[in-house]
Amino acid sequence: MKKIFMMLSVAVALMFSVNSFAHEGHDHNAQETEQQIWAQLKGGAQGVTTSTGQAHEQLINVYDLRVFELRSDILAPALLAALFGMIIVFIIFIKLNGISKLHGGFSGKMVYRWSKFDVSIHWLGAIPCMLLILTGLVLLGGRYFFQPYIGDGAWGSLVNASKLIHDYMAIPFMLGWALMTVLWAKNQMPKMYDIKWMLVVGGYLNFGPFKGKHPDAGFANAGEKLWFWAFALFGLIISASGMLLLFPNLFEPSRTLSLIALVLHSVSAIIITAFSIVHIFMATVMSEGGMECMVSGYCDENWATQHHNLWFDEIKDNGTLKYKDQ
Ligand code: HEM
Repeated sequence: MKKIFMMLSVAVALMFSVNSFAHEGHDHNAQETEQQIWAQLKGGAQGVTTSTGQAHEQLINVYDLRVFELRSDILAPALLAALFGMIIVFIIFIKLNGISKLHGGFSGKMVYRWSKFDVSIHWLGAIPCMLLILTGLVLLGGRYFFQPYIGDGAWGSLVNASKLIHDYMAIPFMLGWALMTVLWAKNQMPKMYDIKWMLVVGGYLNFGPFKGKHPDAGFANAGEKLWFWAFALFGLIISASGMLLLFPNLFEPSRTLSLIALVLHSVSAIIITAFSIVHIFMATVMSEGGMECMVSGYCDENWATQHHNLWFDEIKDNGTLKYKDQ
């Protein structure tokens, strides 16, 4: 009896050990197969489905992944640099160089420059543009720059609010962009004297041979013209690509076109952001008296003669010079 019991125990022990050995082998094989399948899928392996949608035969589309890398490694840091980097550069520049003061001080005589409608369309485009830049940064780079430092709840609310604001602000921005581009283009045509303006950086540098220079400028100077045409071109690209991304059911872009739109949208945003920071600094801090133009539509006479001498001479000569009633 004792012998039979011992034999049974050995048999059971053997069965268990054989079973667990087989199980381990099975787990190992399954893991290996799983890894192989994933490697193939990540490499863009194609299969067969009954679906007829775009890229339906691929579970993971490999060039989508390249766009993800482009976004995380290049586009997102570039947008961050265009915004905060430019602010830092400008603060340092103003600390070293100082601002452009009105040499004769304020005259108190206000010259008509922009209509009330012009001022309105400027802010119709500008305010949404600034909101689009901030929310766009959250959507493009928030997961790298903000999410690790705030809680999940706060991140969820931030990204949700950013998406909503970004979608709705696109409409007034495009309206402002279209009106400014069409109505202001005639005053922004390049002229020969713009080259000289560029060579002396508009007289804004307060050192060396540049100090005290007042290059000729018409209604718009060369720097403003550069900003205007960059805004016109990249505003067009950002609007068109944005529409494709916002209404995919309406335009039915191909998968490739959607990815191109995504990249063009970010690249245009980076360029517009960098220019906007320069523009805002020039208007608010750098050029004494400049901001008044987009508040009341009038500028000080001394500002007009110092920064836009050819325009001032022209309106004086052709009789369109108009002063604000005191
Ligand atoms: C706080 C933000 C901003 C301020 C204080 C500001 C101020 C100004 C001022 C004072 C002018 C008139 C310059 C002149 O009469 O010579 C101007 C023009 C202009 N602004 Fe803005 N702006 C701001 C944001 C923006 C933004 C975000 C955009 C883009 C949507 C924009 C687009 C333009 C354009 C296209 C012009 C005409 C070209 C030029 O004169 O520079 N502005 N802005």
